[in-house]
Amino acid sequence: MRLERPSMKWKSEHIAYMKDWDEEKINPSSFRLIEDLSYEDYLIELKEKEAGQDNRVPNSNYFLVDGNDRIIGTVTIRHSLNDYLRKVDGHIGAGIRPSERRKGYATFLLSEALKITDQLGINSVLVTCNEDNIGSAAVIIKNGGVEDESFTEPHGNVVRRFWIER
Ligand SMILES: CC(C)(COP(=O)(O)OP(=O)(O)OC[C@H]1O[C@@H](n2cnc3c(N)ncnc32)[C@H](O)[C@@H]1OP(=O)(O)O)[C@@H](O)C(=O)NCCC(=O)NCCS
Repeated sequence: MRLERPSMKWKSEHIAYMKDWDEEKINPSSFRLIEDLSYEDYLIELKEKEAGQDNRVPNSNYFLVDGNDRIIGTVTIRHSLNDYLRKVDGHIGAGIRPSERRKGYATFLLSEALKITDQLGINSVLVTCNEDNIGSAAVIIKNGGVEDESFTEPHGNVVRRFWIER
């Protein structure tokens, strides 16, 4: 298993990965493909987003790929926190394709993402999940997450917040 940066090489695999999510909203959103947008243009837009376009902080995106070059999951790593990220989304967002869940991949993916936050010099990594996301909370705790106060969004959604000290 390894992390790979999005590029033209992954076009057909990425489309297959999207299909696996079917009706479920793909998470993290940087990997959502839109029908009317070519893959080339998707990659250009992703690069702009990664550089910190529209209120975003600079961020990096990776596929988790297996030995058969199949995309198993995706991760977004935000290089710093703004007000919103500090309350809701944290430094790292990850997802595993529905057909490959409950096999330990998210636990591995988060541990790989933490190597990248180490390289970025982030000593306290914030990782969050919705209150009802038991799987995600388990993954964060397995990677050393220590729970801080939750945050309730204006529409009532409760976000659990964990710090991973490095
Ligand atoms: C949350 C998610 C990333 C977990 O991925 P995963 O690869 O299935 O997680 P893992 O296999 O590494 O599971 C780690 C632990 O969580 C537990 N777990 C995972 N999913 C679970 C679920 N739905 N319910 C209860 N426990 C769950 C596992 O049993 C495992 O604990 P174990 O050692 O006791 O077996 C995945 O379900 C997903 O992509 N969901 C949609 C996107 C999302 O919610 N992302 C996180 C947003 S912050």
